[in-house]
Amino acid sequence: MPLVTTTEMFKKAYDGGYAVGAFNVNNMEIVQGITEACQEQKAPVILQVSKGARAYANHNYLVKMVQAAVENCPEIPIALHLDHGDSFEVCKSCIDGGFTSVMIDASSKSFEENIALTKQVVEYAHAHGVVVEAELGTLAGVEDEVCVESGNESYTHPEEVEEFVSRTGCDSLAIAIGTSHGAYKFTAAQCTRNEEGILVPPPLRFDVLEECIKRLPGFPIVLHGSSSVPQEFVKMVNQYGGNMPDAIGIPEDQLRKAAKLAVCKINIDSDIRLAMTATIRKHFAEHPDHFDPRQYLKPARQAVKDMVAHKIVNVLGCNGKA
Ligand code: G3H
Ligand code: 13P
Ligand code: ZN
Repeated sequence: MPLVTTTEMFKKAYDGGYAVGAFNVNNMEIVQGITEACQEQKAPVILQVSKGARAYANHNYLVKMVQAAVENCPEIPIALHLDHGDSFEVCKSCIDGGFTSVMIDASSKSFEENIALTKQVVEYAHAHGVVVEAELGTLAGVEDEVCVESGNESYTHPEEVEEFVSRTGCDSLAIAIGTSHGAYKFTAAQCTRNEEGILVPPPLRFDVLEECIKRLPGFPIVLHGSSSVPQEFVKMVNQYGGNMPDAIGIPEDQLRKAAKLAVCKINIDSDIRLAMTATIRKHFAEHPDHFDPRQYLKPARQAVKDMVAHKIVNVLGCNGKA
């Protein structure tokens, strides 16, 4: 099947109590690792491209690689999505350039400015058969050039969501309930410790999510910043010469709970980076004579594939839903 929008995916996910994974893609091995896992698990998938990914790999290369994945995985629905579009022009260039979904992230602007820009993107996107994700609330962490210090994030105000969705006409809404971007989602001060002394992050604000769901029945909600930062990868990075102290993510059971509610799209990027980096570091340590990139990129691609398969089954619940 050709590239799809997220409309049908989200309807099925909402009704079926699962979420679709939205994985960031930056190179061929990442595209292959993700889509091979989805093909084997018969899972729908959203491949998303940030402004930084377009600057790194070039729009055309990314679109053509995703098109190749679509040809290689004919049985699964694949959407191509712009992650964190920050202007009408960036969204327009992706809409004109083959994307089926775009995010306009005007969440750092005022409520009225966010509505105005989102509405402008929605009008252009819908006229071209493309769907739009918007955002209300601010996540902590780093996304492209925007860095929000932990403590300066703001949860979504549920009383704003109906007006925002009805005035903008957006197709899905990213909300802030305590997730954050990157591999360092919480400071030690924000966490408690379990009996073994391991940091336990604060729970997500399910009260905010549930209030948004009540006000937007049937409407797809999106969670950004949803990597779990698997500790086995963090340990592997640190064991083989890296330095990622106190890296910590969102516990998988919390994401699973969100996926069973109205959360239809869960964004994962940092875990892909970690899986690749940990595997490559280990490979270099064990094979100091290797210099052919295929020797270390092959196990790195496999690590992405295994990690994505695990998410599909244990976190998203979208296996067999293609
Ligand atoms: O939300 C941000 C994503 O992880 C993309 O990161 O802008 O470094 O490509 P990036
Ligand atoms: P992570 O940094 O938690 O992987 O979040 C990715 C994301 O939200 C991309 O938009
Ligand atoms: Zn994000």
